[in-house]
Amino acid sequence: MKFFIDTANLEQIKEAQELGVLDGVTTNPSLMAKEGISGKENIHNHYKAICEIVDGDVSAEVISTDFDGMIAEAEELVKLHPQIVIKVPMIKDGIKAIKYLNGKNIRTNCTLVFSAGQALLAAKAGATYVSPFIGRLDDISTDGVELIRQIVDIYNYYGYETQVLAASIRHTMHIIQCLEAGADVATCPLNAILGLLKHPLTDSGLEKFLADYNKLNA
Ligand code: G3P
Repeated sequence: MKFFIDTANLEQIKEAQELGVLDGVTTNPSLMAKEGISGKENIHNHYKAICEIVDGDVSAEVISTDFDGMIAEAEELVKLHPQIVIKVPMIKDGIKAIKYLNGKNIRTNCTLVFSAGQALLAAKAGATYVSPFIGRLDDISTDGVELIRQIVDIYNYYGYETQVLAASIRHTMHIIQCLEAGADVATCPLNAILGLLKHPLTDSGLEKFLADYNKLNA
């Protein structure tokens, strides 16, 4: 399973990269706004800065909702860096754009996916990644992880190559559940990734090892 970090915060991206287990980054317009990044030039420079930090794929989202606008944006974004993947919303023109971009060998991430039917359309259009938002489904009393399982089963059964990128992950247990459900990628906040490190028996075990060592070696 690949780990992406879901943020536009350069410090957090650096921290995850330094851990040595980071495979990529996802951003969205809300995450860019959270960092105070606005204006096309600044946004483009920020994407380039992210690509300089990480080795893997970096999702950059279009803000147009019409086919021509999405394609124009995508063509500018892919020129920024070879690691850029175009994030396209799951709407009618988005599916057309994914199909078109796939024909041009431009990689895409179909975002705002909340159902198996939407995931089917993304795969048929040739999306590189599909992003089901599990936390937002949980928010409305619907099992987000179950959707991951369902999409993984469908893609495996029919042999679709689109990778299932579990998004809107809110906590560490979501990551484990997405692993068990067969997701190809989990894009996570830094805290959820760091949560994987934690176990009280690790802490108490290490404390005891060091105390025993220090008894004879202090
Ligand atoms: O990857 C999508 C993600 O950024 C959305 O997360 O927590 O806003 O639902 P959230």
